[in-house]
Amino acid sequence: MRDEFEGSAMDDLRQKYLGLIAETADEATLEDLRVRAVGKKGEISLKMRELGKMTPEERQVAGPALNALKDEINAALAARKASLADAALEARLKDEWLDVTLPGRPRRQGTIHPVSQVMEEITAIFADMGFSVAEGPQIESDWFNFDALNIPPEHPTRTEMDTFYMANQREGEPPHVLRTHTSPVQIRSMQAQGAPLRVIAPGRVYRSDYDQTHTPMFHQLEGLAVDRDLSMANLKWCLEEFVRAFFEVEKAELRFRASHFPFTEPSAEVDLRCSWVDGQLKVGEGDDWMEILGSGMVHPKVLEAGNIDPKEWQGFAFGIGIDRIAMLKYGIPDLRAFFDSDLRWLRHYGFAGLDVPTLHRGLSR
Ligand code: PHE
Repeated sequence: MRDEFEGSAMDDLRQKYLGLIAETADEATLEDLRVRAVGKKGEISLKMRELGKMTPEERQVAGPALNALKDEINAALAARKASLADAALEARLKDEWLDVTLPGRPRRQGTIHPVSQVMEEITAIFADMGFSVAEGPQIESDWFNFDALNIPPEHPTRTEMDTFYMANQREGEPPHVLRTHTSPVQIRSMQAQGAPLRVIAPGRVYRSDYDQTHTPMFHQLEGLAVDRDLSMANLKWCLEEFVRAFFEVEKAELRFRASHFPFTEPSAEVDLRCSWVDGQLKVGEGDDWMEILGSGMVHPKVLEAGNIDPKEWQGFAFGIGIDRIAMLKYGIPDLRAFFDSDLRWLRHYGFAGLDVPTLHRGLSR
């Protein structure tokens, strides 16, 4: 009699809890149920405590049955918990779903400035020739900007370059200037990397000058290669490769004109053969020459300032005005407009944000 009664009471318990578990919709309620059923003071646990009051025969039947029920309820709890977690994940995936194949909205928001575009183009070209990108500070000590580049204090270049000096000089430190060119990055790169070395350094430079072709801030790109047995021939090849790739022409002719920079010996200014047809620049043909950069073999004293032994190593260097060749390549007439932040100008001369210049796909398309 008693067995049967116990049996049906257990069935009721099973029905009750399995039913409740199946209806549970969240983890917190499920945890409450677990405590109520199989927790320390849960219904099943209390029943187990009653086993002590039973006869051994009764216990033999009721004990295993209770254990089995406890296992069954625990299994149902675990299964429900897993399915709730699955459902939650499912819901989240549905909620946070994002179609990455949707097309972007090019040109709507903003454009890439021609200076940034041209920097990217030049970087792509020189990266292909094994040059990496180096950087230096825009507020530079006069040692890096001048002395280390073989420009002693009395040298006229210091005044010719219309240098901006920092008003607050710190005690015991060399005077600081807004760098007048990217050439100090030559020294920093040599000191940091030693020889051999191939770097380009694009960046902002400053001179106190303002008219249609000069702004007090403008952009240069420095190039420096240091190796054994480097000569002007290597420099010339490198620059011709660059010009052909940059202007996207089959043929480009360069003219090396003897010049003077304190930090190179010999020095050359480089002109590009071109012509103007209806106000449009044509590179590689015609009777005009356009000056595009300064260059030369790195002066031994400059190698020394970079802690490189000039008896063992040679270097060539060049400096390109980025804004200037951006104007040439993209037919932009007035330099000053570059830095006016006029939205109409930016929309007209800017580039689509997602078109990253690469050599294989074409730089500007
Ligand atoms: N620093 C020079 C300038 O600003 C350019 C240059 C760089 C020339 C490297 C020779 C070598 O005019």
